[in-house]
Amino acid sequence: CGIVGYAGSRPALGIVLDGLRRLEYRGYDSAGVAIVCDDELLTEKKAGKLANLEKVLAERATDPSSCAAGTVGIADGNTGIGHTRWATHGGPTDRNAHPHLAPDNRVAVIHNGIIENFAKLRGELEADGVQFTSDTDSECAAHLLSAVLAELRAAGEPDGPQLLVAAMRAVCQRLEGAFTLLAVDAAVPGAVVGARRNSPLVVGRGDGENYLASDVAAFIEHTREAVELGQDQIVLITGDTIEITDFTGRPASGKDFHIDWDASAAEKGGYDWFMLKEIEEQPQAIADTLLGRLTDTGEIMLDEVRLSDQDLRDVDKVFIVACGTAYHSGMVAKYAIEHWTRIPCEVELASEFRYRDPVLDRSTLIVVISQSGETMDTLMALRHAKEQKARVLAICNTNGSTIPRESDAVLYTHGGPEIAVASTKAFLTQLVACYLIGLHLAQVRGIKFADEVAAVVEQLHRMPDKLRELLARIEPVRELAREIKSEPTVLFIGRHVGYPVALEGALKLKELAYMHAEGFAAGELKHGPIALIDAGTPVICIVPSPVGRGMLHDKVVSNIQEVRARGARTIVIAEEGDEAVRRYADHLIYVPRTPTLLAPLMTTVPLQVLAAEIAAARGHDVDQPRNLAKSVTVE
Ligand code: G6P
Repeated sequence: CGIVGYAGSRPALGIVLDGLRRLEYRGYDSAGVAIVCDDELLTEKKAGKLANLEKVLAERATDPSSCAAGTVGIADGNTGIGHTRWATHGGPTDRNAHPHLAPDNRVAVIHNGIIENFAKLRGELEADGVQFTSDTDSECAAHLLSAVLAELRAAGEPDGPQLLVAAMRAVCQRLEGAFTLLAVDAAVPGAVVGARRNSPLVVGRGDGENYLASDVAAFIEHTREAVELGQDQIVLITGDTIEITDFTGRPASGKDFHIDWDASAAEKGGYDWFMLKEIEEQPQAIADTLLGRLTDTGEIMLDEVRLSDQDLRDVDKVFIVACGTAYHSGMVAKYAIEHWTRIPCEVELASEFRYRDPVLDRSTLIVVISQSGETMDTLMALRHAKEQKARVLAICNTNGSTIPRESDAVLYTHGGPEIAVASTKAFLTQLVACYLIGLHLAQVRGIKFADEVAAVVEQLHRMPDKLRELLARIEPVRELAREIKSEPTVLFIGRHVGYPVALEGALKLKELAYMHAEGFAAGELKHGPIALIDAGTPVICIVPSPVGRGMLHDKVVSNIQEVRARGARTIVIAEEGDEAVRRYADHLIYVPRTPTLLAPLMTTVPLQVLAAEIAAARGHDVDQPRNLAKSVTVE
């Protein structure tokens, strides 16, 4: 879910809505706002995308009964909170949308995360006569907050921002699970209080105004100065103050940081969809991720990595842990890391990792990969690894997020903000980061393949140009998209690093086009999945370079022949100059020549374009596919 809070002297509604628009990728099942105006609390919430809420607000603005002369309207208040939801407890309906209100309509709360003991809390509150108006776990927090505020006031505590902080503290002490909460109280105009445990919340420091948000994208157009909050902290913002305490009430401090993202990077800039723009940004994203990390002599410099060379020499096993697209980048990394370093490397889905009790110790290196740095499954895997004393290195795109903060070392990908839910430039930059880590490990440990490593470094430098070349001639992929957009199923096959590319291609098509798509290891097809092939079934075949690992190439070519013999329509992605595949390809897409291990930097790109174009041709929202969210901060 996406969360925004504002306290200052400007009208809060527009600022909160703009912030929500920038956070909508975090969830878009429903949206809502609560604005404090004089000493009134005005709210609106609506199922569906933010546009639905904006429509209702616009109607409200022109409704004479809601803006009678002399009365304040929702557009007038200077303090507000807003929420865009990815449903967990309770369907995406108006009543389940946030904010949730206490019965007296004086206190509003928004929440991201899952309150694990909500059933117990709800039972207790209902026994006290509280009537719930939604099916969410979050509503408990509003009722609890209102009850504590009433108790404190009855005990004679003076009204004001500190009262709201004290009440929030008492509520947090009763909640279990993960949460970011923001609250406003009609009796405390000018203040927003926030709390965080295991869910993201950052503060934006403005001039006479301050912000709270799930991530900096929400306030980047207003301020570049941000404060990172720690675990189990409460923050109070007013126009002029930011006050941080821990859950016991002791003063605490946040970590100030400057946001160096280019604000225009978070704008569509003439493209129909963010995803298409982000695909085009990939050459630059890769160049930025490589920048400053390779010396002229081919040494790899990883200066943010706070693990000593000795630590890296002691590593006897690598686990890569991630979710979704990031997991696929980890699968590619396994091939590279094992080949270059000869250290055993396993790749694991974060959501499975800690539940199977993996064997870890001090000499295990865990590489967690996460674009957002907030994925709860990945965060929990990281914590499990640290409890077992393993060393954790994060690959992350988001400065100030939780995963890098809790890791022993971090290598940032410099992809810039990725707004489309389906990951593109983050994936390619994750690949680059993985290659760098593999090469670095190999160098530190004294490798056998020194020549090969030097050649790879040289090739990495050429990748941005090669990608530009590929993107400049991507048009046939768009035509292909129109041709196969109505197929009931699309299969993807590949071997070696082409296998994770096949999985990633299929994931993209599922996410964006809602089509049945599956990726397979090409050699595994004959052991079952080949039965899926019918006359005309499109099979997208990722063919490795014929240079170097020649056998691998020939094996994939055989697999293409197998599917063709069963009636498949073959769409072949191969390296320029590979004439051997031509006769087996109904469609042939050439990508620039690239050494095998680096080939995913090329072969993934046509698959991204294909999925986006098919989704658009089918009339879907390319940036915000149904049922998904970009950062999933629940397990
Ligand atoms: C969500 C997104 C995916 C993403 C995955 C991991 O499921 O929809 O696109 O790959 O999370 O996200 P992360 O931020 O950890 O890379």
